[in-house]
Amino acid sequence: MARLLAIETSCDETAIAILEDKDRIIANVLASQIEFHKKYGGVVPEIASRKHLEILPYLLDEALEQSQLDLKMIDAIAVTSGPGLVGALLVGIAFAKSLAYSLKKPLIGVNHLLGHISAVFLSYPQLTPPIIFLLASGGHTQIIYMNEKMEMEILGKTRDDAAGEAFDKVARILELGYPGGPKIDRLSKKGNPNMYEFPRALMNENNYDFSFSGLKTSVKYFLQDNQNARKEDIAASFQEAVVDVLLHKTIKAAKEYRIEKIAIVGGVAANSRLREKAIEISKTEGFEIYIPDFEYCTDNAAMIARAAWIKYEKGEFDDLSLNAVPYLTLG
Ligand code: KG4
Ligand code: ZN
Repeated sequence: MARLLAIETSCDETAIAILEDKDRIIANVLASQIEFHKKYGGVVPEIASRKHLEILPYLLDEALEQSQLDLKMIDAIAVTSGPGLVGALLVGIAFAKSLAYSLKKPLIGVNHLLGHISAVFLSYPQLTPPIIFLLASGGHTQIIYMNEKMEMEILGKTRDDAAGEAFDKVARILELGYPGGPKIDRLSKKGNPNMYEFPRALMNENNYDFSFSGLKTSVKYFLQDNQNARKEDIAASFQEAVVDVLLHKTIKAAKEYRIEKIAIVGGVAANSRLREKAIEISKTEGFEIYIPDFEYCTDNAAMIARAAWIKYEKGEFDDLSLNAVPYLTLG
């Protein structure tokens, strides 16, 4: 039996999880910093780093308490090394290094994107590739093909804003506050998704790329010209446009690559309309849809631990020179 302790501090969530063997999460704790950032309308990197530093020791105690473990019973320390905010990443990395060094246990640097992808295997331990992934978060929107050997190929990605970024920016335009995704999601439930026809960029182009910046601008100008329109209808119509494009391109990839399994991961996979529509489509089109449990979609450390497990099994460890890579990619 092996136990991995994972630390996630790439953005504004401070998180620690403990994984026992491949897929048993025995501790999963998280402290959101929303309170400290919301008055600024977005994440302030400097505040994020400071808060991670303050919160990590308490979270570690909480994780150990939840799992009823002593630090000596941990076999390896995993930490997100990128992509993300450099200062925020460095705090987690320094904390992980000091733990690994003092406990004399291996250190494992984890790619945050691989973490999001791994989240689906926590919720569906029996799931096996080939799989088409839609990874949609605050910083990334990609379609990825994973083959039987778990090798990955990026088929397409956003050319400008990420899907989550579009949610956040449109929420700001509608003055809904931060974080935007959950606010738009909630407001949309009271709106008509077919009220306004917002642009679905690149939808019918023969590629797997996305573009969301025009959609955001279109909502902005629409609001300027229609100040009496209901925000509920604007939010719902905007959300419908994002969901339509995301699912259209994902299904296109699954069809063209003849893959039956589709996984949707990343913060935007928490979106209720995306989840609902994906399940509807899976029934009509005959695909199997896998979306992680809600708490594994947005940033968390359980997914980092699950991604680290693969490296742990292979003995792929990092030394104490591990550094933050803010623009780390999947390739
Ligand atoms: O994966 P994540 O927690 O962090 C990154 O790695 O970026 O994703 C955060 C993004 C934010 O842009 C947030 O607005 C979006 O995911 N998000 C949502 C929802 N919950 C979070 N977007 C739409 N609907 C949601 N319910
Ligand atoms: Zn993330």
